[in-house]
Amino acid sequence: MKGIILSAGKGSRLYPATKPVCKPLIPLYDKPLIYYPLDVLLRAGITEILIIVPPDLQQPFEQLFGDGSGLGISISYIEQKVQRGIADAFLVGTDFIGRDDVCLVLGDNVFYGPGLDDSLMRARENNTGATVFGYYVDDPRPFGVVEFDEDGKVLSIEEKPANPRSNYIVPGLYFYDNRVVEIAQSIKPSERGELEITSVNNEYLRQGMLNVVKFGREFFWADAGNADNLLGAANTIRVLQGYTGSVIACVEETAYRHGYIDRDKLLEAGMGMKSTEYGKYILSL
Ligand code: G1P
Repeated sequence: MKGIILSAGKGSRLYPATKPVCKPLIPLYDKPLIYYPLDVLLRAGITEILIIVPPDLQQPFEQLFGDGSGLGISISYIEQKVQRGIADAFLVGTDFIGRDDVCLVLGDNVFYGPGLDDSLMRARENNTGATVFGYYVDDPRPFGVVEFDEDGKVLSIEEKPANPRSNYIVPGLYFYDNRVVEIAQSIKPSERGELEITSVNNEYLRQGMLNVVKFGREFFWADAGNADNLLGAANTIRVLQGYTGSVIACVEETAYRHGYIDRDKLLEAGMGMKSTEYGKYILSL
């Protein structure tokens, strides 16, 4: 399975902070925001990754990750010339996906919680149709919202509904079989002129191939797209790291635990950052 991180937004909801630096590269507490979605892909066992970046902004991403070999994986980059919506990731990434299944994660989404690794592995192993997730929030209106019937069967997904039919939103993490490329080619832009990921999910639903897995209430998810959410997520990560004594989304640790890098490479990464808590944590492993 291939992995795509969609990091091509202008980050205009964070202006002026994201005028000089693109959103996925700004810090969420102690590491760049993009580490969180990257860590999710690594945990899912995905080692061939495409990062979709804004026009003319490939270089800072390359400075951060290079070709991925520091993490024992392969990372490539492609620009999204025109912002045409989330589902456009499958059109921009068609050659990269080839004949494989694909997992898409949004560059500003943060996931943390018990059972995450199991959910990821199960979604990955289910290689027909689509697996997306459901997460309970108090105000679902800014998101894709799932409607369930009394037996928990999915009836619909609506994008940013004024009157949501449930409190379960679909976070920015999607597993698809290879047909997603064809489906993304067939959908029409929404009223806001975007190829909506919700349209892709509804097509899988129509074909009876959409699996929605609920994350429990103990799970933490955030869309760090505006200043309050970014700060709220940073505070949460800080508190969780303090309680657990671990670093969340430490991509070097995940790469090591999954066997993508050996002890020497882990040490090398830690030594390069040994004056920070992040670097000290790597060395403590
Ligand atoms: C997008 C998707 C939405 C999803 C959300 C998760 O919203 O369109 O379905 O729930 O990401 O972060 P957007 O970031 O375009 O507002």
